Amino acid sequence: MGRRPLIAGNWKMHMTPTETEAFCSAFASSVAGAQAGSNTEILLIPPFPSLDRARGALAGSDVKLGAQDVHPEPSGAFTGAVSGSMLSDVGCAYVLVGHSERRHVFGDDDAMVNRKLHAALGAGLLPILCVGEVLDDRKAGSTDDVISTQLDRGLADIGPEALEQITIAYEPVWAIGTGETATPEQAQETIAVIRSWVAEHFGDALASSVRILYGGSVKPANARELLAQPDIDGALVGGASLNAETFAQIVAAAD
Ligand code: PGA
Repeated sequence: MGRRPLIAGNWKMHMTPTETEAFCSAFASSVAGAQAGSNTEILLIPPFPSLDRARGALAGSDVKLGAQDVHPEPSGAFTGAVSGSMLSDVGCAYVLVGHSERRHVFGDDDAMVNRKLHAALGAGLLPILCVGEVLDDRKAGSTDDVISTQLDRGLADIGPEALEQITIAYEPVWAIGTGETATPEQAQETIAVIRSWVAEHFGDALASSVRILYGGSVKPANARELLAQPDIDGALVGGASLNAETFAQIVAAAD
């Protein structure tokens, strides 16, 4: 079954709304020509205050919009938080859930990640569930166990129909923002483990249709080789997505 490649740019806490608008206008017009006839889905994930301006600047293009996080509750006294319905309303199709910086800097544990995943689905958003091991896990040989536990807990009470809405991103924490990339073999190996986990819990059909991305220092120089791996269906790009030219080169590598 063909899985549509997805190249997503996670801007983290970069780019003001003004910078976002300029980037998106230029990117949408350059990518529109270059991507004519391409099957690759392109997604930009700016900070919350930039979403509305990004939506305006991307209107009429095929570039999708996503958010970096979502609160588990639909509304209420949660100062500083943003709900799923707010994100849908501002034009987001996707939302990241459980990004390593949310887990390691903000303390989101697997139970919180699971609540956010349910909230995202409830608001009609397509979640991108991020999982990944830290360097000590890899050195200890426990990568597969760590990832399986994150999947067990993160995807708790998710049925097959909900899983169809979910993209999984494998992002080894040691490769994020460090310039160090998993080798294509390492990335393929762990992503194959994720696909086997899905097969075991949801059956072969869903395992062959679920989209699984790699993230962690993806750049034009390594994108093609990573994306050529049989189980890697796209990339979640941080640093290299802040430059329209390098991001466009990564998008081109997916074709
Ligand atoms: P990076 O970030 O490409 O800068 O390593 C990836 C991510 O955090 O999604």
